[in-house]
This record gives sequence, C-alpha cells and structure tokens, in this order.
Amino acid sequence: MTEEHILKQKDKGFYITTPIYYVNDVPHIGHAYTTVAADVLARYKRLCGEKVFLITGTDEHGKKIQRSAEERGISPKALADEVVTKFKDAWKILNIKNDDFIRTTEERHARVVYEMWARMKANGDIYPGLYEGWYCIPDESYWTEKELVNGKCPVCGREVERIKEESYFFRLSKYQQPLLEHIESNSGFILPVSRKNEILSFVRDGLKDLSITRAGFEWGIKVPDNPKLVIYVWLDALLNYLTAAGFLSDEGKFSSFWPPAVQIVGKDIIKFHAVYWPAFLMSAGLPLPKRIFAHGWWTIEGMKMSKSIGNVVSPESLVKDYGTDATRYFLMREVPFGLDGNFSQIAMNTRINSDLANDLGNLLSRATGMVVRFAKGVLQAASEQDDADRTLMQKTEWLYRTYSQAMNNLEFHTALTALWEFIGEANRYVDLTKPWQDAKTGNTARLNTRLYNTIEATRIAAAYLLPFMPDTAETILNALSQDIKGRDLEKLSQWGGAIAGVKITQAPPLFEKKLEKSKTDAARAERAVPPPQKHPEQQAVPLISIDEFKKTELKVGTIISAQKVEGSQKLIKLEVDIGEKRTIVAGIGKSYKPEELPGKRIVVVANLQPAELFGIQSQGMLLAAGDPEHLALLTLDRDTTNGTRIK
Ligand code: MSP
Repeated sequence: MTEEHILKQKDKGFYITTPIYYVNDVPHIGHAYTTVAADVLARYKRLCGEKVFLITGTDEHGKKIQRSAEERGISPKALADEVVTKFKDAWKILNIKNDDFIRTTEERHARVVYEMWARMKANGDIYPGLYEGWYCIPDESYWTEKELVNGKCPVCGREVERIKEESYFFRLSKYQQPLLEHIESNSGFILPVSRKNEILSFVRDGLKDLSITRAGFEWGIKVPDNPKLVIYVWLDALLNYLTAAGFLSDEGKFSSFWPPAVQIVGKDIIKFHAVYWPAFLMSAGLPLPKRIFAHGWWTIEGMKMSKSIGNVVSPESLVKDYGTDATRYFLMREVPFGLDGNFSQIAMNTRINSDLANDLGNLLSRATGMVVRFAKGVLQAASEQDDADRTLMQKTEWLYRTYSQAMNNLEFHTALTALWEFIGEANRYVDLTKPWQDAKTGNTARLNTRLYNTIEATRIAAAYLLPFMPDTAETILNALSQDIKGRDLEKLSQWGGAIAGVKITQAPPLFEKKLEKSKTDAARAERAVPPPQKHPEQQAVPLISIDEFKKTELKVGTIISAQKVEGSQKLIKLEVDIGEKRTIVAGIGKSYKPEELPGKRIVVVANLQPAELFGIQSQGMLLAAGDPEHLALLTLDRDTTNGTRIK
C-alpha cells in the first residue's frame, strides 16, 4: 500500500485529531500550532471531496488539574469550565472548523472509559499489584529510578514525587512484539521517520507493564469496583479519540470514521500515542490509527517558552498583532512540520512583508489593477497563447502534483513553498510580458490574454490558499469575481476556470506591511532615552504661497521597468511613463524589490533639474514617505492618464 493510499481511505471518512489540552493552562502558540495544522489538513481534505471529521478538546482530569484548582481555591470542574471557554474562543479566532469538541468530564466519555477497561480486563490485560516508583505531576508520567536525570523528570526537568501505592497494571509487555511488528510493517504509522526510530528503540529496549491507576486523590474517573483509585489520566485522555468518534454512542459515525486517519501530536507526547495508545487498542480488539505525526516545539525569540520567563505567546496576541491568516500562514510556512522552530517578531514581520504583502498582495493588486486600467474593468477571454503563457500554464500542473503530495505527507511548508514559487512565476510573467506595452500599442488580443492569464494565476493561487488562509483566499476570489462554491481543488486548480466577462475593480492591499522592528529594538531604544528632539517632519517649515507650490510640476506616471543600479545598495533605475518616457534613479532599493515596481502608478516631480547618480542621468524624482527602509510610494487611487498634472 502506498503512502497516498493509507491516507486516502476513499471509502471511509477522514478522521483527524489534535491532542486534548490540559485545562490548568491557557492556550498558547504550541496548542495553536497543532490545532492550526489539523485544521489546515482538514480543510485540504474537504477540498479534495473527502468526508472529514476533525476533533479537538480538553483533558480535564488528574492530579495536575486538581492542584491548579486548589491553588485557585475553586473546584477542578469550575477550573475546567472556565478554561475550556478560552480554548474554544482561541479556536474561533484562529478560524478552526472542528466538527466536535470533547471534554473528558463528559458523561459520554466515562462510558467509553468503563467499556474499554472492561474489554482490556476481559482480555487478561489488567491486573492488581503495588506500584513503587516516581511520578512527575506536570507531565502526569511514571518514571523508574533509572530513568530520572539528576533525580528529576527526564522530560521536563521538574521535581518528581515518590509513590508507593496499590495499583492496577496494564500488561504492556505483552504488546512489545505486536507493536514492533506493526511499526515495522507500516512505514507511515509514525512520522517523521526520526520519531519512528526513537519509538522503535524505546520498544526494543523492552516494555514494562504500566500502572494505570492513581491513589490518594479524587479528580478522575473511578476504577470500577475499587472507587478508592482513579484511572490514570493518560489512559482516560487517550480514549477521548474513541468517544469523539461516536464509540458506544453513534455506530454509524464510528464505523464511518474509525480508525483515525491522522493524529497530530507534539514530540513530547509521542510515546503515549505511539506505544501506550496502540497497545490499549490492540488489547480491546479495535483497529489502530493509520498515522501518528509528531511535530516539533516552538521557542520564543530563541528561548524556551515558560510562564516563569513570562514569554508565553497566546493565540489572542498573535491574532491581535498579525491577524488570523498571517498567523496561520506563519505557523505553517516558517518551519518544516516535524522540526523545532523559533518564533520571533522579526521572522513574522518578514513573512508578512515579503510573502504576503509583496508577493501575494502585489499579484492581486497588479492583476486587478491592469484589468481596471487597460480593459475598463471587465475581464476578457484569452485568445492565442505564446511561450510565456504556456510556461505559466504548465507551472500549474507541477503545482498540483507538488502541493498534493506535500499535503498528504503533512509537509505543509513544502506545499506553501511550491505555491509561492507559482506566485513568483505569475509576478515574473507580468514583468516579462509587460501588458502595458500591448495596451499602448493597441494589441488587444495579446493584452486580453495577458490580463486573463494574470487573473487566472491569481485565482488558482487563491484556491491553493483556501486550507491555509481561508479568509484571504475568499477575499481574493471575491476581488476576482470568481464564485467557488461546490467545487473541489482538482477542478479549482485547472487552468481556464476563471469566468470571463466579469467586472473587476482594483483590489485594496491584502496585507499592511509591518515595521521590521523587534520589541528588543524598541526596548533598547527606550533604554537609551534619546535627547528630546523633534522628528524632522515636526520641525518648523516655512510657509509658502500657492504660487511657490505651483512652481513644482507634479505628474502622474506609471513605472514601466525597474532594475538595481550596479554597485548601489539602495538605488533603482526606473523607466517611467509620464506622458513621455523618463529615466529616474530612486533611492527606494531598501524598501522595494525591482520586480514589484513595474505597473505601479506613481507621482513624479517632473521639473527637477536633472542629476547624475552612479553615471546615470536621473530626469525627475518620485514621491515617497518614510525612512529609507520603510518607504511607501505615493500612488493614485483612481485611473488617471500618464502625464496628468497634479494640482
Ligand atoms: N493533555 C495532554 C495530551 C493528551 S492527548 C490524549 C497534553 N496536553 S498539553 O496541553 O500539555 O499539550 C498539548 C500539546 O501542546 C502537545 O502536543 C505539546 O507538544 C504541545 N505544545 C506545548 N508546548 C509547545 C511548544 N512550545 N511548541 C509546540 N507545541 C507545544 O500534553
């Protein structure tokens, strides 16, 4: 069976899970990461016409939750009720479309836990005994003396407590061989491969029977026939995946969706999911999940995220600072799924500025702007195609293959890299074919083909964006007047789908550029306390008369071409149409790439004395605001003929 087949399950529903999150903590970027990834996969699969079931939820029992509640002076249930709304709100603002939300304190879940206990017991896999060893409460994990590192928890490094208590055990040792066989014969069962190898060596080292109860506290599901004990929170929690799929409550749903197609977890909890969980299922005679994928961890500005450092990044703050879609994009694009990554404001701003505002935003702006300027805002059908058109069209076939394969392997960043390569190709197509020249020479057939193809490439890019940035994709499709209801990605991504004859207006910018300043920079600047000084703009400027202003001849122009001036960091040589052709050398190279400039409508000082810069005569000046690294060009918000005088 190929990887693709494992994931496809055409006859089945496609069940995707996230871990269920502890309610002693509020949502942070780590929780958001798993949940966004699961949502992206779910949206992609829906777009491929699959019947998807996506669940997330909360893990509400255990000593850790009980302790947190005690510290707050409230009951564990009250704590859970309070925190669960925070998770639900976070998923709403991140535009997560989960089909269910499971809480382990729900009655439907207790029934499943009891049934599974009964099945495992009936199979001879649960027996009573005495547990003596160590326990890490924050991780809710048992450890042997040998496993401790300097007497602390080997995973989180925190204090462990010694326990000696009556306990029930699960015969995990019995499943060592079946587990090894399953992992070895199903190459896609544990991914990435590095995690699979880690688990294989853990299992090969030998599996000891697992304590599956805890004594001495109340907050959990009671052990049948022995209510002094509660069921180990990890056994309780892992079974949520069955409850949510309708086990014991909705046979139809369960038979359609079980087993899970993909279970996404963080690397820290892979052992629970790839060893204990399949062993429990084997014991109860239930099919195993098809795939467990463990992603990496985020650091924040290079540091481990922790409450004590005070650097915990919440989904709310991300969405407030960057917006939902940019946050989703960053999380999926910045780091290959499976590896660790670092979140920094600079990295986030760079992604927004260069990928979203420049590459994607410019494409939409140029595509719509050119139809407005050169075709009276009505998209005409394409006619004959030349090599440039064909190159662009063929890229869509490559994109479909590359993107689909990457998405099925949960290589989200590869899918996005491919999409951005296509967006780059579409921008290059405009630079290369220069539709404004066809507009000038009146080559209408050629012009219409170029305009249609640019719009078409933008529409196709939007289709591929749907799983990642649903709102942005919709905004683009609306701006292109392309209805997308009731279609799937295979159809959406086929060349020629854009409907001609529709009205198109200039799309507003998709993303605002961010100032590339980190908080650290800002803090440093604050500490430096500069002497009170007026910003140059606020300094007194002498008043001038209207006649003096009139001496400046400002004209409307369109940038025809742009190239970097050899040997200069910031100078760009522009050919500008201001009713006549002018060469202008502008110091905008730190804020704009040459390829994003052609087609831009700008304001030019036309009667400036010519000046020579790097051996090139500059015949005018364009207007821009800001410091050299964050310049914004003055542009026009309506169509105006080149050379029109600005008064
Ligand atoms: N309740 C258990 C899971 C039970 S599933 C049957 C649990 N909960 S958790 O709230 O502590 O963590 C949930 C997820 O968040 C884990 O997958 C973990 O890897 C992830 N992350 C927590 N911090 C993270 C980062 N800094 N970066 C990325 N993900 C991280 O474990």
